[in-house]
Amino acid sequence: MKTIDLIVGARPNFMKIASLYQAVSDNKLYGREYKFRLIHTGQHYDDSMSKTFFEDLKIPIPDFNFGVGSGSHADQTSKIMKAYENLLDNFISDLCIVVGDVNSTLACSIVAKKKNIPVAHVEAGLRSHDWAMPEEINRVVTDSISDYFFTTSVNAMNNLINNGIQKDSIFFVGNTMIDTLRHNLDNFVKPTFFDELSLKPDGYFLLTLHRPGNVDEEQELITLLNSICQQCKDLPIIFPIHPRTHKILQNLDVKFENLNFVPSQSYLEFMFLLSNCFAIITDSGGITEESTILGVPCLTIRDNTERPETIDIGTNILIGTDPEKFEKHFNRLFNNQWNKGNIPEKWDGKAGLRIIRALEQEILRC
Ligand code: UD1
Repeated sequence: MKTIDLIVGARPNFMKIASLYQAVSDNKLYGREYKFRLIHTGQHYDDSMSKTFFEDLKIPIPDFNFGVGSGSHADQTSKIMKAYENLLDNFISDLCIVVGDVNSTLACSIVAKKKNIPVAHVEAGLRSHDWAMPEEINRVVTDSISDYFFTTSVNAMNNLINNGIQKDSIFFVGNTMIDTLRHNLDNFVKPTFFDELSLKPDGYFLLTLHRPGNVDEEQELITLLNSICQQCKDLPIIFPIHPRTHKILQNLDVKFENLNFVPSQSYLEFMFLLSNCFAIITDSGGITEESTILGVPCLTIRDNTERPETIDIGTNILIGTDPEKFEKHFNRLFNNQWNKGNIPEKWDGKAGLRIIRALEQEILRC
């Protein structure tokens, strides 16, 4: 029996791994010759950032949890590397599957590769070309040592080919995060505050902010939030607050009109909020994909994206990071001129299944 390690660490990893588990349980052929070993690095550890996702998405309890927690990039990455190396010293694996672009992705791919274990990267080939993003470094390093590449888009596939990756190691499978969204469309959960705040479908903005470039400087964050409040006119803004952003704001004595701070939401509650909002304002990458599928206008507070299809095909627009330049985008939104959007190729809910088939028919046969 071959052992396949699945690595998760931070919130955006959980939806991607859930799709693989779903595909495994849907595909009866699988599971006899191979065994999955779920490894949680513990990069995210709050119940609201981790445990609720396992419960909502029915992901099994991890076989190992390294519990590394927070720290500087080097601290977090090195703790994960040591813990995974120690595990592999005692129990070797035949394949290491990493997802996305977080520090856990980088750390485990390096360790596996140095142990001569093949590495497969789910969501390979994304490039923002923005070296100020730690995620870009994680993507480029992980892709430079991976053996197999599962891509979400034609753009990502082309990025890999342009980087000299052999075509027969690239599998354009679609988007596992979208698999999970499609699978849960009927399961969204209305948060208790929805009625308490008298929110109505299409009657509020949803806001998420967590990128260091947007939240780490107090004064810039205040200016950004004030500008968002002003642009959203009288509509309430629901702001599920990320721990990083919370740490900055909790010490500040400022009030923002229309802004309703709520805790980080579970997956099913967040998807309820996203599917019912008038528009989402965000600096997340994953949310630009989810809003594309849900047909929700997405205003991204970034100057670049590693997911250009969410703009070319979907409902996303980069409104930049300079609040002085937000107005024209909000005007377009309020004037009902937002792009209605289409669905990118292969974002059909079957990416997990395609990955399992590729593993079975091509990768694990080698
Ligand atoms: C990480 C990922 C980012 C992803 C984001 C989603 C990297 C480099 N970044 O960023 O790509 O979009 O997750 O959330 O891997 N914290 C808590 N509780 C938690 C988790 C974090 O309080 O459960 C606090 C930490 O103490 C830290 C801050 O939040 O102060 C940031 O956490 P960290 O995991 O370092 O990075 P994120 O900003 O969450």
